Amino acid sequence: MKQTISSYVKFARIIAMSKLASVLLLASIGGLVYLALNLNSNASDQSLTEATEVVEEFNEEEYDKIENGIHVRTGLVDAEGLMTVVSNCTSCHSAKIIIQNRMTAERWNETIKWMQETQNLWDLGKNQEIIVNYLVANYPVKKKGRRMKLENIEWYELEN
Ligand code: HEC
Repeated sequence: MKQTISSYVKFARIIAMSKLASVLLLASIGGLVYLALNLNSNASDQSLTEATEVVEEFNEEEYDKIENGIHVRTGLVDAEGLMTVVSNCTSCHSAKIIIQNRMTAERWNETIKWMQETQNLWDLGKNQEIIVNYLVANYPVKKKGRRMKLENIEWYELEN
């Protein structure tokens, strides 16, 4: 009986020791993982800044290059008001979304108002007119339909 108790105590001690050991082991694995992740994110941070630096070096000459009447970086037509549009309209989304949308001045103003109310677009002040003029002049509404509009038609009443 005495022997069973003492071997039980021994057993319990071994269990306790191995619990402690596994806690320590887990803690050190955790520490290693943390270190590894940290090193990794430092590494990617670094490569990110390196990449940004490269882009900036490239940009100095090429940033606002115009080629064949097109502002290369955005694809927008080079015309009066271009840089106002570039600096106010291409920071949240690509200029493609602008080029694809052909609207009247009224609808441009509505779209701008919508972006101000829902998308945090800032107040454009006097630039709004410059921007809308640029858009209407360079991206006019495309004519739709294959035939000429019907004109001078004599309509007749349908009789029951
Ligand atoms: C503060 C951010 C921001 C700025 C700056 C901004 N927009 Fe937008 N714009 C948005 C967001 C967000 C959308 C919605 C994009 C989407 O649906 O994927 C959007 C959508 C659009 C659309 C599509 C609207 C539609 O009905 O689908 C057009 C056109 C547009 N913007 C033009 C402009 C013009 C022109 C300017 C410059 C005056 C401008 N944006 C500046 C955030 C901005």
